[in-house]
Amino acid sequence: MATQKKTLDDVKNKSLLRHKGLINGSWVSSSSGKSTFDVVDPATLDVLATLPEMDKHDTAEAVSAAFEAFKSFKKTSARSRARLLRKWSDLCHENVDDLALIMTLENGKPLAEAKGEVVYGASFLEWFATQAEMVHGEVVPPANLGQRIVTFKQPVGVAACLAPWNFPIAMITRKCGAALAAGCTTVWKPAGETPLSAIAQAVLAEQAGFPKGSINLITSLTTVAEVGEELCRNPKVHKLSFTGSTRVGKLLMQQCSSTLKKLSLELGGNSPFVVFDDAKMSTAVEACIMGKFRNSGQTCVTANRIFVQAGIYDEFAKQLTERIKTLKVGAGTEEGVFVGPLTHERAVEKAMNHVADAKKHGGQVIYGGKPMEGMGKGYFFEPTVITGMKKEMLTTREETFAPLVGLYKFETEEEVIELANDCDVGLGSFVITENMARSWRVAEALEVGMVGINLGMLSACESPFGGVKGSGFGREGGTQGINEYLITKSMLINVAN
Ligand code: SIN
Repeated sequence: MATQKKTLDDVKNKSLLRHKGLINGSWVSSSSGKSTFDVVDPATLDVLATLPEMDKHDTAEAVSAAFEAFKSFKKTSARSRARLLRKWSDLCHENVDDLALIMTLENGKPLAEAKGEVVYGASFLEWFATQAEMVHGEVVPPANLGQRIVTFKQPVGVAACLAPWNFPIAMITRKCGAALAAGCTTVWKPAGETPLSAIAQAVLAEQAGFPKGSINLITSLTTVAEVGEELCRNPKVHKLSFTGSTRVGKLLMQQCSSTLKKLSLELGGNSPFVVFDDAKMSTAVEACIMGKFRNSGQTCVTANRIFVQAGIYDEFAKQLTERIKTLKVGAGTEEGVFVGPLTHERAVEKAMNHVADAKKHGGQVIYGGKPMEGMGKGYFFEPTVITGMKKEMLTTREETFAPLVGLYKFETEEEVIELANDCDVGLGSFVITENMARSWRVAEALEVGMVGINLGMLSACESPFGGVKGSGFGREGGTQGINEYLITKSMLINVAN
């Protein structure tokens, strides 16, 4: 029996569905009142909602509101902010089905995965509630005995939080949860493809009791460049946190240089996934499924270059392909679907380009390899396995961001470390081995911000998330996450007279 198609009409808590931006506690359209953009379901290309295309003037207004609100919000106690964050987290759990449905409709990821993201997103709120009260200064032993030196930490000011479309809730809460815990006020700029999830979060944060002006939200798709530039150049913004491509991260950094903002940039990755001969095969296959097929391969930490040691290469390719054949592909709202559509048309084009390039250089497509047929207008791509991957192929240098597994063969530990590090970015990585000494050696040698041993996911609110090289800098989550929104002030006291 065909599953009933789901729409936003199936969302029970209708208060989550505001089709507006938020400035200073009011839900508003763009000040120009002219343009709008459509939010589209990538599984069907149906229009889900029409939102105001807000511009640089709206953005400046949102920043001013956050700037004014900061004057009182910075004086609130850490405990009171922790309570608000906990309440917000509780509301996420209470609304988990609605939030997951909104996310699935606008992003495409399967409902079960979307529910997982709601819980993951809420975990950042709980985590930063604990961290708010753990912000400490220090007493420093002075060289000059006529002085005493202490340090204390304070919120940096207005934080601009620019979130991507691949994790429309968790990237909002990971940034804004930390900022609000620290005592900063915020301007949110969710991706134009997935603003509805962020809007629902802003509704819940308001319901939790965050004061007016502490949360402002700009909706924008085609005006994103001017909105981003305003956030970068506006001197009232003191912190900017961005998750997205390395290209855009570099541009934002340039634009922020005029006001020297504190920056966190979580940029592109090209994660190596290394399977050694001594790996447990079932662990390797399941970790690869998780590392590659989560969000249809559209994560910054997705396993992009899969290096398999020669002794188990053929067997791994065989068992992985058999497992991939069992994954159901379809609209994320359908029962049992594991691989949803890609979020953009251009993602399908990129995947086709990577397959064509791999074939041109001698790769063998042993499963999939093309856009999915019989799926209507949606952006579906077949789960794909290619063997015989080589260094000169496009996938070696670029994230594919699609459900495409490319298998590279290697012989020795030294060789694979060199291959893995021969890359201009360094975000996630995965090492599959039963040899504990080897897992330490390789983890230490990889030029990345995160290493997963015998697993395919690096997500935990208590673990710092971030990269090195072209993957940017700054850490989200962990005990480091809140520090990105704090400054350290030192106080030197004359005790000699
Ligand atoms: C990302 O892809 O940037 C986020 C992934 C995660 O938090 O697990």
